[in-house]
Amino acid sequence: MKFNLITSTITAGFLIVGVAANLSAETNDKQVQAIDLVEMFEKLGGKHPGFRKAHAKGMCAAGTFVPASNKHFTDSALLSSGELPVSIRFSVGGASPSSDEKAPGTRGMGIQIKLPDGSLHTFTGNNFPVFAGKDPETFLGFLSTFLPDENGNADPAKTMDFVQQNPSVLANVMWNQTAKTPASYANTAFFGIHTFYFEQPNGQKTKFRWSIQPSLGVKTLEKEDAIKMPTEFLADTFSQQLKEETVSFTIMASLGEAQDSDIDPSQQWPSERPQVSLGEVIITTSGGDACKNTNFDPNMMSAGFTPSADPVLRMRSPAYAISFGKRLSNQ
Ligand code: HEM
Repeated sequence: MKFNLITSTITAGFLIVGVAANLSAETNDKQVQAIDLVEMFEKLGGKHPGFRKAHAKGMCAAGTFVPASNKHFTDSALLSSGELPVSIRFSVGGASPSSDEKAPGTRGMGIQIKLPDGSLHTFTGNNFPVFAGKDPETFLGFLSTFLPDENGNADPAKTMDFVQQNPSVLANVMWNQTAKTPASYANTAFFGIHTFYFEQPNGQKTKFRWSIQPSLGVKTLEKEDAIKMPTEFLADTFSQQLKEETVSFTIMASLGEAQDSDIDPSQQWPSERPQVSLGEVIITTSGGDACKNTNFDPNMMSAGFTPSADPVLRMRSPAYAISFGKRLSNQ
């Protein structure tokens, strides 16, 4: 594993990160608060009043959710209400509204489905399948290793030391090392990463993790092709695809077994777990600012669905709320 590679890909990838060599021990000793993470994003990506404190650059879209029929979720309002309207936001990771679209790294998709009774069901995922840390403390410690010193330089050795002492960030680091630039939001798969439950009216619980698979297939750009792209190409590529073909995504649920962790987003489940479809999201429009004031909080779900006790998932609601409040008040 090479320092420079890790540093560049991780920086482009998640957000930006870090602090002193022994910070991991310090942050692991105290319970991290959502504001600590939001402030870390701002330290790494700069303060951008009015913008999301993560995934600041993005594009709205809208469409229709066409539910699938499967025995694990049949009784849910989400799958038994017919076709439903969907608000979507695609994004590039990072706190800066000018994040680099040509760089490999994080892309996000937020889906908010509106049910007939007005309730909302949210799926907010990234293109990496595993999280950088087993808990918010580890994640914050990892990010802190990317903070520059007084001369403006980050020290890759700090990141390397942290990874060695905190193996739960390793799978995400390895993903970042091989990640390529996504060719289009329409050619990207997104992962929910955390564990969720659906409880049937008879009390039977389904334990699952979801992913979002693009109907047009996953496509990435080699480095030499990515650098030839216009500075901003994601919105135009997407709207061109929408004119020429059907752009849709299938929301898949991977069904967990008892031994699959429901609290650790740094541990992937075995790929052979059964996969069932929750339904298809068919995109009808892109652009505009209909999603500007939406909070794609992944814990906002329709009746019968519940989040697991994953501490990273739990941390997301207060962090998104802080960011939402800040951006609405132009902070
Ligand atoms: C402790 C961990 C995390 C923290 C503190 C965090 C924080 C944030 C914040 C503050 C925002 C901006 C919210 C807003 O202003 O509306 C955001 C957006 C987002 N995050 Fe996270 N996040 C975390 C983990 C994750 C994970 C695990 C995923 C993917 C599975 C993810 C995917 C996204 C996406 C796609 C967006 C953009 C949503 C939109 O377009 O509005 N985040 N995150």
